[in-house]
Amino acid sequence: MPDTTPTRVQIALMPSGRKGQVPYGANLLDAARLLGVELESICGGRQTCGKCQIAIEEGHFPKHAITSSAGHLSPMSGGETSYREKHAMLDGRRLACACEALGDLLIVVPEESQARKQIIAKAATDRVIEIQPAVRQIYVESAEATLEDHHGDWERLGAAIADQWKLTGLTLDPMVLPTLQPALRSGKFAVTLTLWHDREVLRVQPGYAEGAYGLAVDVGSTTVVAHLCDLRTGAVLATEATMNPQVKYGEDLMSRVSYAMMDKQGASRLHRAIITALNDLAKRAAERAGISTDDILDMALAGNTVMHHILLGLDPVELGGAPFALAVDSPLDLKARDLGLKLGVSARIHVLPCIAGHVGADNVAVQLAEGPHRQDEMLLIVDVGTNAEIVLGNREKVTCCSSPTGPAFEGAQITHGQRAAPGAIERVRVDPVTLEPRYKVIGYEEWIEPGAELPDGVRATGICGSGIIEAIVELYLAGIIDSDGRFNENAPERSPRVRFNGRVGEYMLADSVHTASSNPITVTQSDVRAIQLGKAALYAGVKLLMAERGVTQVDRIVLAGAFGSYIDPRHAMILGMIPDCDLSQVTAVGNAAGDGARIALLNRDARSEAAKLAREVVHVQTAVAAEFQNEFVGAIAIPHATDPFPHLDGQLPAKTSGGAIVRRSQRRRMNQPA
Ligand code: FES
Repeated sequence: MPDTTPTRVQIALMPSGRKGQVPYGANLLDAARLLGVELESICGGRQTCGKCQIAIEEGHFPKHAITSSAGHLSPMSGGETSYREKHAMLDGRRLACACEALGDLLIVVPEESQARKQIIAKAATDRVIEIQPAVRQIYVESAEATLEDHHGDWERLGAAIADQWKLTGLTLDPMVLPTLQPALRSGKFAVTLTLWHDREVLRVQPGYAEGAYGLAVDVGSTTVVAHLCDLRTGAVLATEATMNPQVKYGEDLMSRVSYAMMDKQGASRLHRAIITALNDLAKRAAERAGISTDDILDMALAGNTVMHHILLGLDPVELGGAPFALAVDSPLDLKARDLGLKLGVSARIHVLPCIAGHVGADNVAVQLAEGPHRQDEMLLIVDVGTNAEIVLGNREKVTCCSSPTGPAFEGAQITHGQRAAPGAIERVRVDPVTLEPRYKVIGYEEWIEPGAELPDGVRATGICGSGIIEAIVELYLAGIIDSDGRFNENAPERSPRVRFNGRVGEYMLADSVHTASSNPITVTQSDVRAIQLGKAALYAGVKLLMAERGVTQVDRIVLAGAFGSYIDPRHAMILGMIPDCDLSQVTAVGNAAGDGARIALLNRDARSEAAKLAREVVHVQTAVAAEFQNEFVGAIAIPHATDPFPHLDGQLPAKTSGGAIVRRSQRRRMNQPA
């Protein structure tokens, strides 16, 4: 019988998204390390510390071409069995250091097992918010029940509320009704009521009580961020973030939509995954703030359209193709319990409205936070992700669109790309004369120079989005690649770091001694192309909106989203991601969608403002705009084939020739008469 045992097996690790082939029978701790994922391992693999726990996802995952099963691991034995006898381990968990890979595997690395945890920009930004929440508390003293008064306690309390607070027509959540009489008696007929929009009673507490809390949540396709706020003071008591667990079903939105299309259980699995994640975030935030999740009575939710639909339990299939019809775009007010969210029993959820098939509630939240409709200057807001969401306007008119930038900016489709996590190259400089690089990796403060001695544990694992943008711009500024993105054929004469394989060039950014895999990290021609296509789509979207508004210049640019926080504005402009603008007017605002959700949580009028914004914004459909293609073609060049960038005057190379870089300012000086 021929031996059919495979020599290699396919492994994907979540949430990092790293994947690749490893030898059949490889130890999982080593295999993960080989693929650039460090697991905690205090005992060094002796099966005694329990830090290296992982779980296996069962099923077929077309995105990764993997059929994964826990049966593809070597059986439990020796050290692992005795560890399990002594310590509680969650169901389905295994010790990576005790497992051999005997088949394809989709491995989930829980946060506590990650030695290099994902970097998530999550802090709430300081913003002035008028505190006027939809949920508030009132103290009421009711008349006592007597033999003479045949009315029910609720009706008697209603009369007291009308008298003391001038509120009438309140309803009582049916789940709260059983708590009414005990609360009234224990409080000697004085109670604190928690009201929603002064219309519904969400909670009855005996006597005087304080403490109503809310969660503002931005459900991103990669990360989910929740701010736990005191609804009385507006203070952010805790911020928690997590990777979106749906990543294991597909990295980007469209692959999740196709997962929902191809698998009958797909949409409900995606829904359950995000609800579980939200419950976990709420629990963690409540623990951090020292409150109970029962005290969380309101939630404001923002998310892109696919996340919005999946969260609501709606099949996102219609969003996968033209005309990208939304099931609903209006704001929604729901009960948390109806979605399976474990907050206060009668807690409310406000879901911000969507605008169009590709422009979701997260964009409305960004607009709410940045307020283009409240100012005179022409403001451009760019939220870079797999789809870039772009807003341009001022108080006269606001326009928006979505542009298909693809996942390159998130490190996907890049030869050594990865998400922003410790070890990822995030900053790059290339000496324009020697062509030698310097770079910074996340988690290590120092710039790394060629030949530098690095401490143990500090190694480059890949290049994240901000790193690849800087690398390509630096290659362009150093004359290694031309304005059309092609590697300059003369560049290898200037440095051995530039190599050609046939006609395809690459640049060695990190030497093998400085990488976790001991293989060099390179920037290749296909990486440059992927970034060019992404940035051209982004720029073309911006130009469509500028044409719609009839402007040729913007006054200010805001880079929103976690990624925006890491992009250097100058590099973004030299690459031609954003149009020309005074660089001092280009700012990153972090998670503006999360801030918008927080504003909606803390101010009920902001909810009406968001609904009005969503109704009135002019949405430009890039997919059918004839001009998009023309703009796209012109925008492929670095920074652009024809558009001027006067604010970069003197900073762009005019041409590269045999190693001599002639800058425009120098050329002008050379051309000036003596
Ligand atoms: S590394 Fe310690 S138990 Fe696996």
